[in-house]
Amino acid sequence: MKVTVVGAGAVGASCAEYIAIKNFASEVVILDIKEGYAEGKAMDLMQCASLNGFDTKITGSTSDYSKTANSDICVITSGIPRKPGMTREELIGINAGIVKSVSTSLVEHSPNTIIIVVSNPMDTMTYLVHKTVNLPKNRIIGMGGALDSARFKYRLAEALEAPISDVDGMVIGGHSDKGMVPLTSHATRNSIKVSEFLSEERLDQVAADTKVGGATLTKLLGTSAWYAPGAAVSGLVQAIACDQKKIFPCSVLLDGEYGLTDLCIGVPVVLGKNGIEKIVDVSLSAAEKAHMAESAEGVKKTNGLLEL
Ligand code: 2OP
Repeated sequence: MKVTVVGAGAVGASCAEYIAIKNFASEVVILDIKEGYAEGKAMDLMQCASLNGFDTKITGSTSDYSKTANSDICVITSGIPRKPGMTREELIGINAGIVKSVSTSLVEHSPNTIIIVVSNPMDTMTYLVHKTVNLPKNRIIGMGGALDSARFKYRLAEALEAPISDVDGMVIGGHSDKGMVPLTSHATRNSIKVSEFLSEERLDQVAADTKVGGATLTKLLGTSAWYAPGAAVSGLVQAIACDQKKIFPCSVLLDGEYGLTDLCIGVPVVLGKNGIEKIVDVSLSAAEKAHMAESAEGVKKTNGLLEL
């Protein structure tokens, strides 16, 4: 199993690190445009192998796409991250050009790969990859919902004063401050609906804190987060590499599902060796349905800024 990670910045490096630590991939190639940077990150990570007990071979390269040839999975993290006060949508100008050229080069060398898009604005960048490369729609996946759901579970556990392992919940919709749709009606603590423990006001606060999860960290860190994004990507990569058939919310091209067409937005999917193996239909409350429709409108508006 060969995995390429494009972008050796904080998110790309965390991604490579978590993939390696989980020890399921034979090879991870990291690529970056900054001379020597990916090579340095790869060497540093390889020097963790004996300490952390993994056998994954990690190599780095400065923009040599031939090194990525025949990758089973390619992760695109390239582009600029947001600064405090910025929305993810504001990154479109610079990141669209980068994502277009990166995805073209990747598919040139790995025509059967599965692409995971992390660059922001992620739903629009995922849509752009669909419009740029000739891959079946099950092989292009946007990573947002897995991260947003992890942030939702963190906030739920905090409100419930419970361990995170006791909590389950999912965020669908667009990966943006306004577009996320935390499914509070489906969230549970050890199979009991969280509404049994938390008031409607407290749940609304959990949802609000979840939606600005990335912005809160950007304000604290001065740039966007990397540990949870990297861990979320590694979860998707592992589900595909190990054919786990796990359900994750991912940004996928919809063709009528959830009443939506011609956009990529977060919905629950089954991930396995073929990438997206099934889009899962979940019943939504009236408020969640309305929120999802509004979220889709926002994503379509951002897609409208693309020069296709
Ligand atoms: C985040 O929410 C990087 O968009 C990513 O932290």
